[in-house]
Amino acid sequence: MKITFYGHATLGIQIKDLFILVDPFITGNPKAKHIDISSLNPDFILLTHAHQDHILDVEAIAKSSGATIVSNYEIVTHYQNLGFEGHPMNHGGSWDFEFGNLKYVNAIHTSSFPDGKYGGQPGGFIIEGEHKTIYIAGDTALTMDMKLIPMQTTLDLAILPIGDNFTMGVEDAIIASDFIECDKVLGYHYDTFGYIEIDHEDAKRKFFDKDKDLMLLEIGDSVEL
Ligand code: NI
Ligand code: MN
Repeated sequence: MKITFYGHATLGIQIKDLFILVDPFITGNPKAKHIDISSLNPDFILLTHAHQDHILDVEAIAKSSGATIVSNYEIVTHYQNLGFEGHPMNHGGSWDFEFGNLKYVNAIHTSSFPDGKYGGQPGGFIIEGEHKTIYIAGDTALTMDMKLIPMQTTLDLAILPIGDNFTMGVEDAIIASDFIECDKVLGYHYDTFGYIEIDHEDAKRKFFDKDKDLMLLEIGDSVEL
């Protein structure tokens, strides 16, 4: 499994010959100008929730790729009504896709489309493929529900928001890492806007002091599991 960071909360996940894109927000991110969305050809687009900074490029990329959109019922219905392919899920549900098993898990946040339309309840994803399991938390607060995850699975990597203000900050992400029993964390949802700028070295040191590893990737860089 190969995970590529495309800035903010946008991730690419390569499993076998399938490419999964998560929360595409690239053309609106001034830090991701070097990423060409026409070069992305996903088989699946996973959406944690309907906020603009997670869905901005969905229509353009789904149109060019024909990707299947996977999210909560409300978000998938919205895109199906526009003519796109979709697979609706809801919290606690899992499904065996071609790439592996996907579970839609709880997140504490909100989820409206940019025009204010209801976007269901926000979530995160647990993806198991090629004998590796990752947790993509989505935009979320620290929540006790995270303790349910290690009761059922062993994570190889957790992708957690660390930018604070709209989501968990670094201190809460460290506690989340305890709850999910995964000390290997890829940070995301930071630095894109003024509200979520963080001190990288300070964040890494705080994780290191708890015997945890915080990875912060350059936009376009990948990590292989
Ligand atoms: Ni959000
Ligand atoms: Mn967000």
